[in-house]
Amino acid sequence: MGLDGRIALVSGAARGIGRAIALALASDGADVGLIDIDAGAEETAAAVRGLHRRSCVVRADVSSAEEIAAGVATIVAELGSVDLLVNNAGIVNNIAPFAKMKQAAWEREIGVNLTGAFNLARAVIGPMAERGFGRIVNISSVAARGGLFNQAGYSATKAGLLGLTHTIALEYARFGVTCNAVLPGLIGTENVLGMPAEIREQAVAQTPARRLGRPEEIARLVAFLCGEDAGFINGAEIDISGGGHLNTMVLGSRKELSGGPPKA
Ligand SMILES: NC(=O)c1ccc[n+]([C@@H]2O[C@H](COP(=O)([O-])OP(=O)(O)OC[C@H]3O[C@@H](n4cnc5c(N)ncnc54)[C@H](O)[C@@H]3O)[C@@H](O)[C@H]2O)c1
Repeated sequence: MGLDGRIALVSGAARGIGRAIALALASDGADVGLIDIDAGAEETAAAVRGLHRRSCVVRADVSSAEEIAAGVATIVAELGSVDLLVNNAGIVNNIAPFAKMKQAAWEREIGVNLTGAFNLARAVIGPMAERGFGRIVNISSVAARGGLFNQAGYSATKAGLLGLTHTIALEYARFGVTCNAVLPGLIGTENVLGMPAEIREQAVAQTPARRLGRPEEIARLVAFLCGEDAGFINGAEIDISGGGHLNTMVLGSRKELSGGPPKA
């Protein structure tokens, strides 16, 4: 399998996209260390072991450089190294019009979504470069480039991840390390499925594919980016949004947007 012998670290793997990524990497042959603040990561670890791969869990907050340094040391001691890092842990905790955003919530979003990726990348990248192989995938969002009403903080952190991605790629490409960003649209995770149906349905109606993405679709892309075949993809921003990152303004009739495929 494509990732046999590789050791991965996935943050925020207790549920949702992170859990799907951990399982996809394990299915492709990697052992997978998990970092999460939620004890539910133990269930993901059990599922990884069910795929006959090794796993271990560290309860740590990605925003803390100290907790992450200690957590990565534990994973390296248990599994051997970190070849693949997926910065997936992320929060939305500041849904408000810009003028009403709370300072503490702004700082927490930056701490988890952006500083978290910085902390984890710094903890693993030195040995990756020395070994001449490494893969880092940062889970950003379509909000990084398009913004998002009432989520200025979240959008800013996801845009910040793109700058981090580009610069790590520039500095480490010559050492065999790639760093890429994945920009999901709305994905059917527990959180999203728990949204009021009206909000979710409106978002789906504005998505060209007219559906939510599946966590497993994000996970397959991440697994590809972690493999040998993706070694020349570096500093990329890859949308995975059913076309949701495109300009969906309609000039003209909306009638042609419903019904079956258009006839010539
Ligand atoms: N679901 C979507 O539609 C969507 C769209 C675009 C981008 N994303 C991004 O994908 C990633 C995963 O999204 P999700 O919907 O699966 O989220 P989720 O809330 O279901 O899962 C996030 C995980 O991160 C963990 N986590 C939160 N804060 C942490 C911290 N400080 N330290 C360690 N772990 C922490 C949580 O415990 C949880 O297991 C996030 O970065 C999110 O911004 C999601």
